[in-house]
Amino acid sequence: MATIFHSFVASFLTYGLIFCIIVPSNADLLNDEFERWIKESGKKYINEDEKLKRFAIFKSNYQFINSSNNNLEQTFKLGLNKYADLTNQEFRALLAGFIPSTDKQPSTPFRYKNVMPPSSIDWRTRGAVTPVKDQGKCGSCWAFVTADAIEGITKITKGTLPTLSEQELIDCVNECQGCSGGRPDTAFKWVTKNGGITAKADYPYKAENGICDATKVKDFAAAITGYEDVPSGNETALMNAVANQPVTVAIDSAGLFFQFYQSGIFRGPCGKNLDHVMTAVGYGGDGLNKYWIVRNSWGTSWGENGYVRIWKDSGLRSGVCGITLVASYPVVD
Ligand SMILES: *[C@@H]1O[C@H](CO)[C@@H](O)[C@H](O)[C@H]1NC(C)=O
Ligand SMILES: *[C@@H]1O[C@H](CO)[C@@H](O)[C@H](O)[C@H]1NC(C)=O
Repeated sequence: MATIFHSFVASFLTYGLIFCIIVPSNADLLNDEFERWIKESGKKYINEDEKLKRFAIFKSNYQFINSSNNNLEQTFKLGLNKYADLTNQEFRALLAGFIPSTDKQPSTPFRYKNVMPPSSIDWRTRGAVTPVKDQGKCGSCWAFVTADAIEGITKITKGTLPTLSEQELIDCVNECQGCSGGRPDTAFKWVTKNGGITAKADYPYKAENGICDATKVKDFAAAITGYEDVPSGNETALMNAVANQPVTVAIDSAGLFFQFYQSGIFRGPCGKNLDHVMTAVGYGGDGLNKYWIVRNSWGTSWGENGYVRIWKDSGLRSGVCGITLVASYPVVD
């Protein structure tokens, strides 16, 4: 599979280069596209220089998207989304926000070792998933998935679906780095120790670091008694867990394919340098088209209304983009 991807990337590069050289009117065509995109996305640039700089990036992204979408073998489509004027490097610095642990974590129990998972499940249709959220320009994905997963287990165990505060986690979990990143297991530990987590309406999202509000922090909308990790590198174990509740999954989100993913089953190319965390809320499909249903926190305009379907049972131990490597879920006993 890797070599197919490599040759695809190589042919894209060749195609892209030739395209730029032999079609001079391309720039004018893209100028209109750029103006249209600016209007649609409501972008404003501080001056002409900035606009020119952004146009150059937009052009290169546009051509990347166009080439990928013209590739008939590609199983997913890319789109000119709100990140179309960002380089991949800028995009990665702004979003994501997962900081992998540097030392080996002690292993936790795994309660879903011997369950029989159904062939498909979608927690959205079971009322255990709130509407898609947007982390904005803050590397707080870790706080969003912590809230997502606790919302899910609360619905499953208590019957009601709360919407929980990411800002509280950003402000109060000192072991994480706020908008500079963190880890859901650290946040689950904090919520357990704190005795619960506040409703989002009572501690609203600001997309920036703040000071922990000591009063609000004791006003609980949900509580957990701990968390467990899914055994690493085992897609069956991950399936067993997701069959029972939404699960946080770290992935490698670097690369333009992920930046501009719009629809279909995402198969990479991507590596396994985990830099982002999302929430697996289901799985489905059959044969070679099985997928994880994964909820992102980049608003509804990215991907399939805010979700990405990631190839499941690819044969890679680490899963596509490393999805099986670091997965956790909160527990309520
Ligand atoms: C994008 O791809 C379409 C074919 O799907 C092609 O007609 C069009 O010229 C391409 N545009 C640019 C600017 O590359
Ligand atoms: C993967 O997880 C499943 C479910 O818990 C378990 O039965 C299986 O033995 C595990 N495989 C490996 C290689 O550890």
